Amino acid sequence: MNIIILGSGGREHAIALKISQSPKIEKLYVIPGNPGTAQVAENVNIKISNFEELAKFAIQNKVQIIIPGPEQPLAEGIYDFFNNSESLRHIKVIGPSKKGAMLESSKDFAKEFMIKHNIPTARYKTFTKETLLEGKEFLNSLKSPYVLKADGLAAGKGVVIPEKLDDAKSILDEMLNGKFGEAGDKVVIEEFLKGIEVSVFVITDGTNYQILPEAKDYKRIGEGDTGLNTGGMGAVSPVYFADKTFMQKVEKRIIIPTIQGLISDNIDYKGFLFIGLMSVEDEPYVIEYNVRMGDPETEVVFPRIKSDVLELFTATANNKLNTITVEIEEDAAATIMLVSGGYPENYEKGKEIFNIENITDSIVFHAGTTIENKKTLTSGGRVIAVTSFGKNIKEALRKSFINAEKITFDKKYYRKDIGFDLIKNNA
Ligand code: AMP
Ligand code: GLY
Repeated sequence: MNIIILGSGGREHAIALKISQSPKIEKLYVIPGNPGTAQVAENVNIKISNFEELAKFAIQNKVQIIIPGPEQPLAEGIYDFFNNSESLRHIKVIGPSKKGAMLESSKDFAKEFMIKHNIPTARYKTFTKETLLEGKEFLNSLKSPYVLKADGLAAGKGVVIPEKLDDAKSILDEMLNGKFGEAGDKVVIEEFLKGIEVSVFVITDGTNYQILPEAKDYKRIGEGDTGLNTGGMGAVSPVYFADKTFMQKVEKRIIIPTIQGLISDNIDYKGFLFIGLMSVEDEPYVIEYNVRMGDPETEVVFPRIKSDVLELFTATANNKLNTITVEIEEDAAATIMLVSGGYPENYEKGKEIFNIENITDSIVFHAGTTIENKKTLTSGGRVIAVTSFGKNIKEALRKSFINAEKITFDKKYYRKDIGFDLIKNNA
C-alpha cells in the first residue's frame, strides 16, 4: 500500500515509524515531514493546505490512504475535498468531514453536541459581544475559578482560568473584543471541574470503533504544572485510574453516544477522536474533543499498539473496524519532550543537537529539527521526544530521563517531573 501522512512533528514521526514496520507498506510519504520521518519514509515538500497539489501527488503516486496529523487540514475540509470528488473518492482520508472537525474547531458546537446527546460535560453558556452583560451576570452565578474558552482554534491558548471574578470579567471583555481574533467572537463560559485529567483515543469508521491506549499529557512548561501552556511537555500511558470500571463508563456514557450522535446528526466521521476527560470522583466528564491524535500522546500511544497499524487504517477506510482486534503492549511507555530554552515564548533555533545516534534503549522522535550540512539542528520549540518502555511508568520514565540527559543542545530544557503524580499513587 501507498500512504501519505500529513504533518511534521513528533506525532507524525511516531505514526510513520509504526506504519513503516507494517509488512503491507510499499511507499510511505510524509508531507512535509522532518529528519526523523526521513529515516522511515520519503519526505515531500508540499503545503498541507494545498489540497489540489496533494491530490495531484496522491494520484501520481497511487496513494490509497491519507492520514492528516494536525487538525488544520481537517478543519479546512480535506476529507470533503477528496470524498466529494468522483475522481478522488477512492483515496481515503482518515479524519472527519469539516462538519465533524467542528467538534474541535468550535467549542460552542462541541458543547451543544454534548448537551444534545446527553454526554457528561461541565455546565456552560456561550456569549458574544452583544451578550457581554449577560456573560458577566453568568460569571456572577458561578464559583471560582472561572473557565473561559475562545470558541475557535487558538493554537492551544484559547482557554483562560482566572481565580478572581473581576479578572474573569475583564478577560471576557478582552476575548469578545478581539484578543484571540475571530476565534474569540464567541466565548464559552463553563463550570470548573475538579479532578484528574486523562486523554482517551478512539478510532472510528463512522459506525464501529476501536479504543486505543489512554494517556496523560503534561501541558504546562514548569514543574509542578506551573507556568505557561505548551503543546505538551511529556506523556505517559497507561494511566492507572483509567481502569476497567472507569473505561466502561467512558465507553457507555461518552464514546457510544458520541458516535451515535454523529450518525443521527448526519456527520461523516472516519478517523481519530481524542477525548480530553476529567475524572471527577471517578466519574468521567468531557473537557474537550479533538479530531486528531495528540502530540506528545501519540509518542506513547502508538508505540504501545502491537497490531499492524496499517490494518487499523485500512479497516477504518473500508468501514470494517468491527472485524479486527487491536493488541496493546502491556508494558508502560513514557515520553519526555526536550524543548528550546525560552519556549513557549521566544527561543533561538539552529542549535546543533548531539548524541541522538547514541541512544539505544529509547525511541527518539523528531519534533522540531532540521538537517543542514549533515548536522542535526533545532528548528522549533519542541525539539525531540524521548520515548521508552518499562514494566511500569516509573521504569519507562527512568530510561527516558537518562537519555533526555544524554541528548544535548544549547539551552535544552525538559520537565523532570513528568508522570510523578501518577507514580505516587500508582499500584
Ligand atoms: P482545553 O483547551 O479545552 O483542553 O482546555 C485546556 C485545559 O484547561 C484543560 O486541559 C484543562 O486542564 C483545563 N480545563 C478546561 N476546561 C475545564 C473545566 N471545565 N474545568 C477544569 N479545568 C478545565
Ligand atoms: N497534547 C495535547 C494536544 O495534542 O492537543
